[in-house]
Amino acid sequence: MKKQTLYIVCAAALAAALVAGCSSMPDSAELDQLTTRIAQSSFRDQGQAKVDRLVQDEANSACSAADVAGKPLDEKVAKSIEAANFASIQWPAGGQYIGDWKEGEKIAQSGRGKTWSDPAGSENGGNCYNCHQISKTEISYGTLGPSLYNYGKMRGVSNLYAPESAAIIQYTWGKIWNAKAYSACSQMPRAGHAGVLNEQQVKHIMALLLDPKSPVNQ
Ligand code: HEC
Repeated sequence: MKKQTLYIVCAAALAAALVAGCSSMPDSAELDQLTTRIAQSSFRDQGQAKVDRLVQDEANSACSAADVAGKPLDEKVAKSIEAANFASIQWPAGGQYIGDWKEGEKIAQSGRGKTWSDPAGSENGGNCYNCHQISKTEISYGTLGPSLYNYGKMRGVSNLYAPESAAIIQYTWGKIWNAKAYSACSQMPRAGHAGVLNEQQVKHIMALLLDPKSPVNQ
């Protein structure tokens, strides 16, 4: 076949494929399935980073769908997602919520962990500065989340053991453990729920935010 004829044949085939394609446009569920298949075949398990990280839970998929639709999440669905996430919060044993703010600062600073080259079971960072201002001495921080500078002070925590401090202490623990318990489509990672931080690490971060001695509250 001459070169020119070949071009014409190819162009005709392409046009036919396009027309066929357009007449059977996949619907949104089919597109979701296709996207999942492409994502799954583009990644593979390596070390502790497994392909199952792509599996969305109810909150992930409902919030993504609302985002695509450009609409807020249905209020009933939002409430049920928040209730389910709240029920999954692990509260600290013996009501001991507060650790050491110096350790908390290190954890808040660190964005390390969970990659294929990190040994399974090694401790991860909290990555909090990626989205929040926290201590005044750290001048490099993200602004997706609100500033947490003076977090405890602004909420009236002058004594960690005073009964009036209990509610804000509990809320802060719950928020760090599972942010979606309070806001279904929160963009904040679910540090405790997702197994990024353990109970002791969350206690240290709690101290960073709430201890009157922490530089956050000076
Ligand atoms: C990917 C960005 C992101 C990261 C990382 C992140 N947060 Fe957040 N955080 C947010 C956003 C956005 C909000 C506000 C919306 C909401 O309440 O969910 C928020 C809200 C909060 C609140 C509630 C503030 C209030 O006044 O009620 C606390 C407390 C908090 N974050 C602490 C932390 C801590 C501690 C870490 C690290 C373990 C952290 N965040 C990591 C994005 C993030």
